[in-house]
Amino acid sequence: MEHLLIKGRNPLNGDVVISGAKNAVVAIIPAAIMANGVCIIDNLPAIEDVRCLQDTLTKLGCVCELIDEGTLMVDSSSLNNCNATFDSVRRIRASYYLMGALLGRFKEAKVALPGGCNFGTRPIDLHLKAFRALGAKIDEDYDNGIISLKADKLVGTNIFLDTVSVGATINIMLAATLAEGVTTIENAAKEPHIVDTANFLNMLGAKIKGAGTDVIRITGVESLHGAEYMIIPDQIEAGTYMIAAAACGGHVSVKNIIPKHMDSLSAKLKEMGCQIVEGDDFIDVISDGNLTATRVKTMAYPGFPTDLQPQMVVGLAKAEGISLLTETVWENRFQYIEQLRKFGCDISVDGRVATIHGVKQMNGADVMATDLRAGAAMVIAGLAANGITKIGNVRFIDRGYEKIEYKLKSLGADIKRVKDWWNLNLQLLQAVPLATVFT
Ligand code: UD1
Repeated sequence: MEHLLIKGRNPLNGDVVISGAKNAVVAIIPAAIMANGVCIIDNLPAIEDVRCLQDTLTKLGCVCELIDEGTLMVDSSSLNNCNATFDSVRRIRASYYLMGALLGRFKEAKVALPGGCNFGTRPIDLHLKAFRALGAKIDEDYDNGIISLKADKLVGTNIFLDTVSVGATINIMLAATLAEGVTTIENAAKEPHIVDTANFLNMLGAKIKGAGTDVIRITGVESLHGAEYMIIPDQIEAGTYMIAAAACGGHVSVKNIIPKHMDSLSAKLKEMGCQIVEGDDFIDVISDGNLTATRVKTMAYPGFPTDLQPQMVVGLAKAEGISLLTETVWENRFQYIEQLRKFGCDISVDGRVATIHGVKQMNGADVMATDLRAGAAMVIAGLAANGITKIGNVRFIDRGYEKIEYKLKSLGADIKRVKDWWNLNLQLLQAVPLATVFT
């Protein structure tokens, strides 16, 4: 058990380089098993979800190895098992992409129900409905948490998604790529990682058009070959550092990003009083730490991402005035608010709406990361609060953020990862920089 310790109120200044996108790479690694040749994936983020997928592919018989820092090789020629029912599959949400990838290539798959962050029911009915429409027979064994899929062949068809779903859109693209004929997805999700997965598949020889719009057309091909591909930068990691800079004050240059992906956040941060300067592949956030209240509603892309909702709530918690944040994607994504109240934040929740009364000062607290993005929110709260914050359950944060404490330290934050056996006396740590206490 590790903790993050943060001594707050340092302004953040300098450059932070954003890693490859978690939600792209967790689709692209399973997609790589559909290729007959070797795939090389560059700009790989060093995060737990990637390690988990590496472990999973290895157990399926693939060779899945880091050949350099940030470069993964996937060779599925020795894949000998379509039963992905072991523990590493249950640990992450994105293991559902093994269904589309295995079904597409081998016409059968047995996959454990996905885990990941818990923010209410996370159904996969749209994925399964689409696989059935393509011709798969599915056995849903919820007692043992296993979904079995089998098809003599997959045949392209028209699929209208009742709800805009990132996972279902990608899973359909995967299965339909090696189906006979043409599949059309209507009301498709448009997130950057959908475009990235489509670009990767096209590089392997797939014929996918329209990714990034709400109609995607996939013409099935007989087989895919290997290729080398570079993952796009992580929109959510970038947004997390942008909000941290806004909340703490300072001048942070968020580098190696696609600024267009950040439009909804940049617009809100401007409304809140930050200066935003955009370049070709960076955004500078300049803030004096004094923010003003606003209204935010999470939406599918290009709307404000739900995965930046908890971090944004922290920014709003110290913004002058009353802010409203409406969560439209997940039914239960405010469980972490209880933890934020420990910092002195004044937030009430009614259903899907959080009302946030800005406070002048937040105070360090002893809190837990309740999920990945809520964990990032605790980090920002700790950076912006007076005194010492201790964050438990760091493993959630490690699922999606590469070297978070190193990146923040390089911006001037006083942050340290410590093992549980430190008998921490938070009061005694108030007087000195953490780096002088822990070496
Ligand atoms: C992905 C992201 C997650 C993000 C979410 C929304 C990955 C690995 N995870 O999750 O970080 O929060 O998109 O941007 O990329 N729904 C159904 N039936 C389904 C599938 C979804 O009703 O079969 C509903 C969900 O309950 C939710 C909405 O659709 O209300 C959106 O979910 P979806 O886009 O599928 O999220 P994920 O792909 O699981």
